[in-house]
Amino acid sequence: MDFTAQLKAYRDRVERGLDELVPPAGTRPARLHAAMRYSLQAGGKRLRPLLVLATADLFDKKADAIVAAIALECIHTYSLIHDDLPCMDNDDLRRGRPTAHKQFNEATALLAGDALLTLAFQLIARHYPAATGQALTREFADAAGSEHLIGGQMEDLLAEMKTDATAVELEFIHLNKTAAMLTAALVAGGLCGGANEKQLATLREAGRHLGLAFQIVDDILDATADTKTLGKTGGKDAKSGKTTFVKLHGLDGSRRHARQQSDAAKSVLARLPDGAPFITTLVENMARRSS
Ligand code: IPE
Ligand code: IPE
Ligand code: MG
Ligand code: MG
Ligand code: MG
Repeated sequence: MDFTAQLKAYRDRVERGLDELVPPAGTRPARLHAAMRYSLQAGGKRLRPLLVLATADLFDKKADAIVAAIALECIHTYSLIHDDLPCMDNDDLRRGRPTAHKQFNEATALLAGDALLTLAFQLIARHYPAATGQALTREFADAAGSEHLIGGQMEDLLAEMKTDATAVELEFIHLNKTAAMLTAALVAGGLCGGANEKQLATLREAGRHLGLAFQIVDDILDATADTKTLGKTGGKDAKSGKTTFVKLHGLDGSRRHARQQSDAAKSVLARLPDGAPFITTLVENMARRSS
């Protein structure tokens, strides 16, 4: 299968998985489940679940990875709902639609986020045998917790309007708010596919580079792309005084760093079975993306 056909096959599996594994919109309380589905089904690139499925396939074509993939997309989507709240980045648009708090209200958006985070762990606990379930739970809880995703989000907010933020502080923010979840996607795929310790370490190394490249490009797009293409409001970072890659290194410097990190990710991925061609092309596409 060529890259495009494989990508479509994985995307279809993700969309089907979301529909099957998340409670139907009519489940009581319907307003809450409708809000959870509203944010999930608004689309999005599905990068994290794609990475889970593709990485699992590298090690075992029969790997049972869809539940882990959906769980991770639930955690990611919860983080976006909360990231957009007025008390955080205060965004009106996400994935081309009004944000959850605009479409419903703040309390419903808050609760839909809480429920998606919890659902992720419920899905894992219900589905996987003890050893895989425990490993995935640990991986996702670490990535989503106070020392990674939430820690990165906290420092991101603390760095707003800061005029003396350093590159080291910014790297902490990027590694934790973004790279940790992308690393968890690769590692979860490895866990579902039966990767060994050395291979899991290689996946972690690739995730760090991929994650840095991904957030640098996100910062570049915020500064350069239009709102319609982005599906979220452009130009927000500068307006809110965020410490971003573009603020610290300029556009050219950011583009150079993004390329370096994406090349580094590709050279690490080359050490995986068959050189991980699908994931490598996905990483290239992510570096060149327009949304
Ligand atoms: C947005 O993530 C938040 C970041 C970590 C930069 P994505 O760019 O993957 O958002 P979706 O899932 O495609 O909407
Ligand atoms: C990543 O940072 C946010 C999350 C970890 C959810 P941003 O605040 O830059 O993400 P966008 O640009 O709003 O998608
Ligand atoms: Mg943010
Ligand atoms: Mg934001
Ligand atoms: Mg951003």
